[in-house]
Amino acid sequence: MKVIVTKDYEAMSEAAFRLVKTVVTAKPNAVLGLATGTTPLGLYARMAEDHAACGTSYREIKTVNLDEYVGLGPESDQSYVYFMRKNLFEHLDLPLENTNIANGKAEDLEAECARYNALLATLQQDVQILGIGSNGHIAFNEPGTPFGAETHVVQLAESTIRDNARLFAREEDVPRSALTMGLKNIMHARRVIILANGQNKAKAVKGLVEGPVTESLPASVLQLHPDCTLIIDEAAASLL
Ligand code: GLP
Repeated sequence: MKVIVTKDYEAMSEAAFRLVKTVVTAKPNAVLGLATGTTPLGLYARMAEDHAACGTSYREIKTVNLDEYVGLGPESDQSYVYFMRKNLFEHLDLPLENTNIANGKAEDLEAECARYNALLATLQQDVQILGIGSNGHIAFNEPGTPFGAETHVVQLAESTIRDNARLFAREEDVPRSALTMGLKNIMHARRVIILANGQNKAKAVKGLVEGPVTESLPASVLQLHPDCTLIIDEAAASLL
């Protein structure tokens, strides 16, 4: 794993943007694997600015997102599909039909997982962007998830519900379950870029880089990926 430590959040976002722009420029029909959360917001803002200023085109790009809350759809401003549209898609020339996010409002969630999984098999990510949860989760693969897991329904860990409550009016409003790509789907990406900033990620980052490869810290599976770059600020790197 290649580790890049940057001074702060802005420098982390800039370094990630440079890598993503290289991919999009070299391959205008690339498949981008995208993440939600506050971590990639600086990257997405730079992609939007660059599109406006330099005309970098996303017309042929396809995207696949990591996860979605069960029960939430585009009309809910807490859904991940809403987040992606507001923070990235509507600022690019990316056709919405080229974007893919599991449907959290599907009547048959198992069938939706199977559909999304089959789609992922046809859309290998040229680059997969990831954040990391404070408990070491990636996407919504909580500690204990088998490395061989594919897209599945997950009950969220108490720590994840607490972490994500800051984005909801009340903790009770945080959905208790989600649809998520599995670790196997993430490992299938040609290249992975994982971002982390802030002291509250330092312990998870230490496990990711220096710990044993263990299902107790799902992100540690990335030690086995042939092309993974971790970009972190000094606070997130503080325990390394
Ligand atoms: C959620 C998402 C993850 C994300 C994590 C960290 O649980 N499912 O994909 O990496 O939050 O979020 P943040 O970037 O806001 O710290």
